Amino acid sequence: MSHASKSIISVIPKQLPVIPTMDVVVFPNMIVPLLVVDERIINGINEAIEQDSKYVLLLASKKQGDAESDAIGTKDLYTIGTVASIMRIIHVPDGGVKILVQGQCRAKIKNIKPDDTSLQALIEPFEVSLNPDSTAITAHTKNIKSIAEKMVYSGQAPSPDFHAVLSKMSDPHKIADFVLSHLNLGVQDAQQLLETEDFESLLELLSNHLSREIEVAEVQEQIKNRTRDSMNKAQKEFYLREQMRAIKEELGEDTGEEIEEIRQKIVDLPLSEESRKEVMRQLSRLEKTSSDSMEAAVLRNYLEWVVALPWGSLTTDNLDLKHAQAILDEDHYGLREIKERILDFLSVKALKPNSTAPILCFYGPPGTGKTSLGKSIARALGRSYQRVALGGIRDEAEIRGHRRTYVGALPGRFIQGMRKADSMNPVMIIDELDKIGSDFRGDPSAALLEVLDPQQNNEFHDNYLGLPFDLSQVIFIATANDLRTISGPLRDRMEIIELSGYTPTEKYHIATKFLIKRACAECGIQEEQFQLSQEIVENIVTSYTRESGVRELARIITKLCSKGARALIETGEIPAFTIENIEQYLGPRKFIEDIADKEHKIGITNGLAWTQYGGEIIKIEAVTMPGSGKLLLTGKLGDVMKESAQAALSYARSHAEDFDIQADMFTKYDLHIHVPAGAVPKDGPSAGVTILSSILSSLTKRPINAEYAMTGEINLRGHVMPIGGVKEKLLAAKRNNIKNIFLPLQNKKDATDMDEVIEGMNIKWVSHADEIINEILLPA
Ligand SMILES: Nc1ncnc2c1ncn2[C@@H]1O[C@H](COP(=O)(O)OP(=O)(O)O)[C@@H](O)[C@H]1O
Ligand SMILES: [Mg+2]
Repeated sequence: MSHASKSIISVIPKQLPVIPTMDVVVFPNMIVPLLVVDERIINGINEAIEQDSKYVLLLASKKQGDAESDAIGTKDLYTIGTVASIMRIIHVPDGGVKILVQGQCRAKIKNIKPDDTSLQALIEPFEVSLNPDSTAITAHTKNIKSIAEKMVYSGQAPSPDFHAVLSKMSDPHKIADFVLSHLNLGVQDAQQLLETEDFESLLELLSNHLSREIEVAEVQEQIKNRTRDSMNKAQKEFYLREQMRAIKEELGEDTGEEIEEIRQKIVDLPLSEESRKEVMRQLSRLEKTSSDSMEAAVLRNYLEWVVALPWGSLTTDNLDLKHAQAILDEDHYGLREIKERILDFLSVKALKPNSTAPILCFYGPPGTGKTSLGKSIARALGRSYQRVALGGIRDEAEIRGHRRTYVGALPGRFIQGMRKADSMNPVMIIDELDKIGSDFRGDPSAALLEVLDPQQNNEFHDNYLGLPFDLSQVIFIATANDLRTISGPLRDRMEIIELSGYTPTEKYHIATKFLIKRACAECGIQEEQFQLSQEIVENIVTSYTRESGVRELARIITKLCSKGARALIETGEIPAFTIENIEQYLGPRKFIEDIADKEHKIGITNGLAWTQYGGEIIKIEAVTMPGSGKLLLTGKLGDVMKESAQAALSYARSHAEDFDIQADMFTKYDLHIHVPAGAVPKDGPSAGVTILSSILSSLTKRPINAEYAMTGEINLRGHVMPIGGVKEKLLAAKRNNIKNIFLPLQNKKDATDMDEVIEGMNIKWVSHADEIINEILLPA
């Protein structure tokens, strides 16, 4: 309807090329395909497009019938039409063009000028006037809705969602548009509606038309009832099909070959009785709808999805464990325990194919091989591999699919994945499970539970598909950086397998055994040509990367490799890369030891923290300033961390004498504790000892030994209690070249398996804060 905003009217040119339409009146907002064969009209369209205008004027013809044979006489055209924008143009082989247009607003013709080359009109766009408070309008829209409802009950709605959609609309313009696009009007009636300038009268006319459709449909129904008695079912179907075919042929629509093709494909699918019935029902709906209509597009799309899914097709597993082991070793260095666990998992699959083994979840910092391990498992088994990325998904429909009410609707990610996998038993990586969100559009993690639950997933229901689909043969493998954001029930279904960061030595091996090879293949150079000494690889690891995984490392090696490739092209050989010349290729070293970092300062302590990106060194700062004994905390700290700061302060206060701190320090001064990297929220109790060290340093003005880093929770009596993420934290210290570490004594058991990580480190296992303070506070 012409709620075309003023702005649309103001951008429409005063003169537009005319496209006469036969048999149809296009209303604003309607999208209609048109076939144009007349040369003058094609010229007009082309001219408009050359002048960067996409607008045309559609005028219905009073004369009905055969558009092709009649020359257009301008006197046969109505004088009120619709300005439409061209959405798409397709040139058809025999010289005509097919265009897709969308109605924008109504327009009167002021003057029409046929000339030899094109048909142009001077126009004046106008809008239908509306008094929004009019009670008559409210009454009419109500009436229209109730007629629509009646039509649904008596089975005469023009489309299945007619009433459902209509009942949700409140804008009278939208309602009018929607009804207009569904009414089955002759040109004269439609033109009358188009010419109606007053909105109230328009609504009235619309409801009259709707009522009339009900009457017509009722009469049709009576006739049908009569025929039903006189014909048996098979005869009738044949007769109706033939008739439909004839009608479609007459209309120049496809004659059902396409439909037959789909029908045959559906017959061949191994569907359950019920599913087949449902799909056939949709197929017969397609047969009955006009093939240009929106609904037909939706139905065709749907049937295409159904046919494309891998119903019942399975790949054969390769369950040879030796082969699996070989593949895992071929793709990944180290990860011994993890590979063992994967082989256990595959053994169970071999012995009990339908076991409801838990879902594996690889958990650890980025770049540690989680996603690529999943891929290796698929390769080892000889299964198809699919990755479903869940990062940032908030909408439940991404998992369960959209309802098929609109043209762009799609199945959810899992059904999409199944189509791509092309088998019922792929390995599906649910990547970044922890990054899934939730909001008003539903809770995707609840939907995910249904996907993963072996009790339910043999009949997974996707809203788009509308048929149960069996996901029980899929091997799901999840990956996550952070377990805290995964919902409890989801976590319960999974077996968490932890991948921790790599030590520099492991990184060196991964680089030489895997990354260099891959980089060469990627850059198209021979491995023999691209030799890197141990020294240079180690230097790259320590000076250019500071990550838990090897992603950046892989990137830098590929970069170096591409520099080599360039040199090869330019000079015919790849230079030897050395410690001295490496900066020439990779830019300045990013992580050189900063001497200032190792300076002993008052109030600044190196803490070891765990983040979802691996371990990190965080410097916790404390300062005192004249005030009244307040504690100020900044740096986006969580509640637990704030409390832990309170506890540290209380401990310091209660032991002030031991450290020669004047009692008035706690009343005449404020204490400010700041944890930098402010944008990252931080929480947890494990910074207790670090905060205490900074507090005591700032109160005593004794500097902190910067060669130490620490982590540990403390209680009010100063006992140091165990914390998590020991390995990641130690790796972080190592990366940052800090060798002296305080760790809670109770964490010693965690370190039994970490020889390589601990190597070269000086770890002090402590049970009381004093053991730290005495060592870390240097003389003033
Ligand atoms: N142990 C390893 N051996 C060989 N390559 C590895 C290893 N760990 C990681 N990679 C490689 O590092 C890159 C990043 O791994 P990826 O699986 O994407 O990490 P994640 O999913 O854990 O973030 C991939 O190219 C992967 O093959
Ligand atoms: Mg990944």
